[in-house]
Amino acid sequence: MKLRDLRLPLEPKIVVLTGAGISRDSGLATFRDAGGIWSQVRIEDVATPEAFHRDPDRVQAFYNARRAQLKDPSVAPNPGHLALAQLEGLCGSGLLLVTQNIDDLHERAGSKNLRHIHGELLKRACTACGTKEQWEDDLLTSDSCLVCATMGSLRPDVVWFGEMPYFMDEIAQAVADCELFIAIGTSGTVYPAAGFVAEARNAGAHCIEVNPEPSGNPHFHEIYEGPASEALPRLVDDILRQRPYR
Ligand code: APR
Repeated sequence: MKLRDLRLPLEPKIVVLTGAGISRDSGLATFRDAGGIWSQVRIEDVATPEAFHRDPDRVQAFYNARRAQLKDPSVAPNPGHLALAQLEGLCGSGLLLVTQNIDDLHERAGSKNLRHIHGELLKRACTACGTKEQWEDDLLTSDSCLVCATMGSLRPDVVWFGEMPYFMDEIAQAVADCELFIAIGTSGTVYPAAGFVAEARNAGAHCIEVNPEPSGNPHFHEIYEGPASEALPRLVDDILRQRPYR
């Protein structure tokens, strides 16, 4: 089955899942490629609730360094992010963008119907009162919550290993209902996101992977092989060629 054989409705239900690979061409490291983040620092030291309880300053410093990268003018949305925003603009509300990434590049590219299932680098959360707020500066353990004034209760609003990803009920329904499922720049190694393609395939969706090193997952019907900044605009063009959107 090929994309060109599909007869997508005027407002197709599309679920897009992105991973660190889509931000690679914007200058942000992935996790598991050679030289990736997890080859520089251990998950157990910076990305678990236990790590934060054991050494909050070390964890805050890890996320502060990644937050600072987003302020680098050279770190900007690439043609892959922009192609997704264009597709959403033309397909209407039928497109749900689910990202595992905690950067803000999809927002800056113009994507609106977006869910960060692993949280957001530019937000902080209070473990005492649950308040979440946009936060662009360094996160310090000496900070106090602006709502409940509790000292030392603030953490990055990111989902650590062993914690439940966000928006799972809504996403499970969207995956079960979609006609087209596209996974971009993800190694497909971390669940539940890694299981979405099998659920979409079983529900009858056409499943496409965009990756320079395809995962080999048999649930994908098609592969657009290449970096997202090149292969994703090509895919979006093929989708738009299907429909009288222009
Ligand atoms: N364009 C598209 N994909 C790329 C590019 C690129 N330019 N460069 C690399 N890739 C692909 C790699 O081939 C790999 O399949 O991006 C993927 C990156 O995989 P990971 O580093 O495992 O990142 P991701 O899949 O997003 O990890 C999932 O694991 O550590 C947790 O919370 C973290 O959200 C993350 C989750």
